[in-house]
Amino acid sequence: MLPAMDNAPCLRPAVLADAAAISAIYNHYVLHSTCTFREEPETVAERECWLAEHISPHVAIVAEESDGTIAGWASLSRFHERSAYRFTAEDSVYLRDDRRGRGLGTHLLAELMASARQGGFRCVIASITAEQEASLALHRRFGFTDAARLRHVGLKFGRWLDVVYLQAELQAGS
Ligand SMILES: CC(C)(COP(=O)(O)OP(=O)(O)OC[C@H]1O[C@@H](n2cnc3c(N)ncnc32)[C@H](O)[C@@H]1OP(=O)(O)O)[C@@H](O)C(=O)NCCC(=O)NCCS
Repeated sequence: MLPAMDNAPCLRPAVLADAAAISAIYNHYVLHSTCTFREEPETVAERECWLAEHISPHVAIVAEESDGTIAGWASLSRFHERSAYRFTAEDSVYLRDDRRGRGLGTHLLAELMASARQGGFRCVIASITAEQEASLALHRRFGFTDAARLRHVGLKFGRWLDVVYLQAELQAGS
C-alpha cells in the first residue's frame, strides 16, 4: 500500500521545460553522493537531449508540487543498446534532497512500475551503489530481488564502491 502523504505532489510526464529542475536535483547527488557514479555536473542541454530520448515506453515522470516546484523525478531508460534487451529497462528515482524520507520515492516508483507494465517491459533493473540503504529498501519493497553484486567497480570521493544489481520480473510467463 502507498504511504499517505500530505499535499502529495502531482505525478506527470516530464516535458522539456523540466530539464533544469531535473538537472538541479540530479547534480546535487553528482556532487555530494555515491548514489550516482557521475562525478561532473551535467548541463541542462544534456538533460534536454536525455528528455528527447525518453519517449514511450522509456518514460520520464516528475512529481510537481502545487506551487510548481519539482520535488523529484523518475525514469525508465534503455538497459542496453543491443536489441534483444528491448524488453528490459533500467529505472532511476531521484528526489530533491529536502523531500527524501516522506514516501515520495515510493509514489514515484509505484507510478514507474505501472508504466513499465503498461509499456510491455518484461524486466526492470536497478543498479544501486551497495551503501545506498534507502534506495535498496525502496526497490526491495517493490519486489526487486538481488541479482548480482559487482565489487569495487566505482571510485568516488576516494573510496572503492560496490554496485548491486536488482531486478523485478514483470508479466512472468509471457
Ligand atoms: C532513494 C529515494 C528515491 C527513496 O525515496 P524516499 O522518498 O526517500 O523513500 P521512502 O520514504 O518512499 O521510503 C522507501 C523505503 O526506504 C526506506 N528509507 C528511506 N530513507 C532511508 C534511509 N535514509 N536509510 C534506510 N532506509 C531508508 C524507507 O524506510 C522505506 O522502506 P520500507 O518500505 O521498507 O519502510 C530517495 O531517498 C532519493 O532520492 N535518494 C537519493 C537519490 C538516490 O539514491 N536515488 C536512487 C538511484 S536509482
